[in-house]
This record gives sequence, structure tokens and C-alpha cells, in this order.
Amino acid sequence: MADAAALLSQIRINGAIPRHVAIIMDGNGRWARERLLPRPVGHRNGMKSVRTVVEAALEAGVEVLSLFAFSQENWQRPAVEVSALMSLLEEFIQREADELEQQGVQVHFLGELDRLAPAAAAAVDKVVAQTAAGSKLRLNLLVSYGSRAEIIRAVKSVAADAAAGRITPDQVDDALFSDKLFTVGCPDPDLLIRTSGEQRISNFMLWQLAYTELAISPVLWPDFGRKELYEAILDYQQRDRRFGRVQAQ
Ligand code: FPP
Repeated sequence: MADAAALLSQIRINGAIPRHVAIIMDGNGRWARERLLPRPVGHRNGMKSVRTVVEAALEAGVEVLSLFAFSQENWQRPAVEVSALMSLLEEFIQREADELEQQGVQVHFLGELDRLAPAAAAAVDKVVAQTAAGSKLRLNLLVSYGSRAEIIRAVKSVAADAAAGRITPDQVDDALFSDKLFTVGCPDPDLLIRTSGEQRISNFMLWQLAYTELAISPVLWPDFGRKELYEAILDYQQRDRRFGRVQAQ
């Protein structure tokens, strides 16, 4: 089995680097349970995978990396787990902000951020401002995010524009609608990876995933690293993307 460096060389030889990779990071809880550890320990090890995968994406030349870190549904988990996840988010920002800035990573948070506690919201604002000039990789962290709510929010905005006479209904098209989503300015994901073997979309980027290639990895998120990301990209490079047409692009 080839190591990560050899896989990266092959990815570069193949050439078609996915511009936007999105990941549903799943399996932290099972990783902890397999070791008889509390769930937050799984999340803490998941945070280490976030760091590894950001670096691997930078090295591969991916332009946008979107990580599903906390769904709107996750607010319904036990308070102790929600609080552990929020603390980890703050810790991640505190520990990584300087390095992310130095590496040219531009951090964005996508989701209903007004639900965050003041300390978490302040940390988010700080790292977004600090990394705003990053030009190597855009890192979208989806927090308090749900795709249906995102779509409803966009529909309301389009309806308000129409009611105010700023647009007419026949001006509404893909591009106008996409600009109302949290992902405004990002190309749609080329590749969606879900870890831990689950075969679901889980209310993630429903609009944006229309023609995205899917990769289900059996690996639990805390064990997902450079090699696993590169294997998924190599597999993506073998796909025949037709976008509903007959011939490959
Ligand atoms: C899914 O595993 C993962 C989450 C709900 C949270 C993802 C969070 C991290 C990777 C760590 C913190 C992230 C950042 C950006 C600092 P699960 O708990 O649903 O696992 P299970 O399905 O095995 O129970």
C-alpha cells in the first residue's frame, strides 16, 4: 500500500485536483466507544484530524475545504456534549489561528452563528478577521448548520427582493439563488467525503451537491488522515463526470 507522499505524487501526475472538497466528519463517538472512552475524547481526536486534513488539502492544492463540524440537529445532543464541542471549537481557534494565518488559510464559518455562546462567537469573529487575507485555501467550518434552513433563508431573501421590486421572478436563476446561500463565492463541491461508512447526506449542502462525486470512507473520523484524503482524491480522479450530459467534460 502506497504512503501519503506517493499518493500525492500520483494525484499531481493525474492533474485534475478537485477545487472544492467537502467532508461530513463522522464517527468520533464510535471511535471513543471502541476504546471505552467518553465521547468528548473522540471529538478531541477528531480535532487533530481537522488539522491534518487542512494541511493535506493545502499540499494537494485544493482551493476550498468545507468541514461539517456541528449541525443544527447537534444542538439536541446532551448539554455536556454540546458544551465539549463548543469548547473544542474555541480551543481549535486559539491553538491554530496563527498557523492558519501563516499558511494562507482563509477561515469562514457557515451556519446560524447567532446561536453560539458569546465566547465562541467572539473566537469565531477573531479568527475570521485574522485570516481574511489568506489566499491558499478557503476553509469553511460549518457550525450550527442545516441545509434546509439555509435554503429557507435564501428563499426568504429572494422573496423579499421580489416584494421590494429589486428583482422580478423571472430573474431568479441558479446563480442568483446560489449567491443567497452561506457558500456564496465558493464553487460547488467536486467531492463529498463521508467518514465512518454511513451512507447519508444528513441535511448537508443539499443545493450545492447536485453534481458532486460522493466518497464513503469506512474510516472513523479520528483515524482519517492524509492517506485517506489522498485515496479519496485519487478515486475521484478516476470518475467520469458528465453533469447529466453524454460525454465527459
Ligand atoms: C460526528 O461524530 C462528529 C461531530 C458531530 C462533530 C465533529 C467535530 C469535530 C471533528 C471536532 C471539533 C471540530 C473542530 C472544527 C474544532 P459523532 O459524534 O456523530 O460520531 P458517532 O456517529 O460515532 O457517534
